[in-house]
Amino acid sequence: MQHAAQQAVRNTREGASGAPASSPASPSGASDGGGSLKLYGGVTTRRVTVRDLGAAKGRGEKWPMLTAYDAMTASVFDEAGIPALLVGDSMGNCHLGYESTVPVTLDEMAMLSAAVVRGTRRALVIADLPFGTYQEGAAQALRSATRLVKESGVGAVKLEGGERSADQVELLVRSGIPVMAHVGLTPQSVHAMGYRIQGRGEEAAQQLLRDAKAVADAGAFSVVLEAVPAELAAEVTRSLDVPTIGIGAGAECDAQVLVWTDMAGLTSGKVPRFVKEYARLRETLGGAARAFADDVVGGAFPEARHSFS
Ligand code: KIV
Repeated sequence: MQHAAQQAVRNTREGASGAPASSPASPSGASDGGGSLKLYGGVTTRRVTVRDLGAAKGRGEKWPMLTAYDAMTASVFDEAGIPALLVGDSMGNCHLGYESTVPVTLDEMAMLSAAVVRGTRRALVIADLPFGTYQEGAAQALRSATRLVKESGVGAVKLEGGERSADQVELLVRSGIPVMAHVGLTPQSVHAMGYRIQGRGEEAAQQLLRDAKAVADAGAFSVVLEAVPAELAAEVTRSLDVPTIGIGAGAECDAQVLVWTDMAGLTSGKVPRFVKEYARLRETLGGAARAFADDVVGGAFPEARHSFS
């Protein structure tokens, strides 16, 4: 299994035919022209940067982001042309079996982020700063983010909070670490705010606008808006020069993100209303496991062609 995973990653890096990593992987064959990079459907000649994401806003080009927590899944999304992969602390719920994002540690984030970087050659990889690794202040945020950039090789970090996190954003950006900010519903604050729509009512809407502006002014290259009324998200999007990335924030955001296990129908139970399931992976994978088990129990696997003489 480990061998197969390593092979998949190597194929991703070299191309299935052994072509060098710089060879085009675009289904469309469209050219980057070396300068502005078409984020989805463009040629794979280099890694996407935060500047590419910013430039797309100027062109009115929307783009997709997915979460990823391991090298093999990341390689699938990279080959599909997803330009930005978030190693979200949603790994707590979706990958590590925790009840929320709160228990995720910096060690866990560093290890899984490095795996995602190894599985990709084009996507910008962004790692979440876990709960408790930046709330003490800017110096703690810098120590944590430096580790993810140096050890894991990510191109940017994400942290939650608006006005309350502006100092952290400012120091990281000044230190050369691009920051994606995250306002609205911030799951690390689940014990204080629950999982509720944010920004409803005039006062809350004004606070959300101030939060988004504070992190953008501090230098964030983009802002995630989670569980925010569509009209308010549209207003934030118009008011910022940097891209907004919506999750449950309507269609007017510059980009959209989904947790990959939700997007692919792997999550068990009820998914939030803002999720669209593009596959039924839980059913497919469960069916494959049951078919394998039936074959083993019934003696239908392995056949002669799976055996060595
Ligand atoms: O951790 C995560 O996956 C996130 C996204 C939902 C934006 O923060």
